[in-house]
Amino acid sequence: AAGIKQLTDKIIQLKQQRNAIILSHVYQRPEVQEIADFVGDSLELSRKAAGTDADVIVFCGVHFMAESAAILSPEKTVLLPEEDAGCPMADMVTAQDLRARKAETPGAVVVCYVNTSAEVKAECDIACTSANAVKVVGSLPADRPVIFVPDRNLGHYISSRTGREMILWEGYCNTHHRLTRDEVRKVQSEHPDALLLVHPECRPEVVELADHVASTTGMLRFARESEAGEFIIATEKGILHQFAKQCPGKKFYPASNKLICPNMKATTLEKVLRSLETLEPRVTVPEDIRERALNCLERMLAVQ
Ligand code: 13P
Ligand code: SF4
Repeated sequence: AAGIKQLTDKIIQLKQQRNAIILSHVYQRPEVQEIADFVGDSLELSRKAAGTDADVIVFCGVHFMAESAAILSPEKTVLLPEEDAGCPMADMVTAQDLRARKAETPGAVVVCYVNTSAEVKAECDIACTSANAVKVVGSLPADRPVIFVPDRNLGHYISSRTGREMILWEGYCNTHHRLTRDEVRKVQSEHPDALLLVHPECRPEVVELADHVASTTGMLRFARESEAGEFIIATEKGILHQFAKQCPGKKFYPASNKLICPNMKATTLEKVLRSLETLEPRVTVPEDIRERALNCLERMLAVQ
């Protein structure tokens, strides 16, 4: 297999020829984050995808993220280097099941986590990410019921912060939901001075222990600005690469060694290179679905 340096050089060269931009989520492999033009959380990545003037977007992340890019920038070629990189949580709600739930609750506002398919977004009023969820739900009319899909843990967190009761779905992230309170307590006892940063996809009893609850970018900002020098990190381990880069001299401990999302790790430099060579696998969204899903994403992006 070609070395990292060789692959990186080829990718950079081809990226220029194709007028491509490479976007990477912070859960990606370190070498993939390193070749990206921009590394960020779900919200920042969708803002970048909406604003870029590149012809090609190579999305190093999972399917719903590339799909959001295709919804926001339909004239661009959106590539997902590993076509099977999905999000198991996004698959826990289908458009059909959501339509049935909506029919049971007439007049409800439907909010979806951005971790959903385009078809599901097309059924929703507004999307949110973990970075803006509290603001998005806070912006909704007070007199209507709210249905929130699919992440039950995030929904629970939003309700606890906004005081707003919501009708929740039975979805969860396999990677974050697996983390138990006991595991976290054990790491805390090993590092008593460390602050605990928790992603809201974790169980409520883990979120309860946190010194700070945030999206991945929110965690990075908190650690950069904090006076503290040690942190326990309750989210996918790929983020440790950014902590090391952005906070040299500070110490970061994963809350568990099991915090790995296999789908996020499926993208390799080889696959990024191949996608730039072949302009495949491409992610597209049928126009009727895209238009409705776009409304849902644009309402989210308009919330400041
Ligand atoms: P954020 O980077 O938006 O916090 O997303 C977390 C996540 O699980 C994405 O799949
Ligand atoms: Fe989906 Fe969880 Fe993986 Fe994010 S970390 S892509 S929410 S399974």
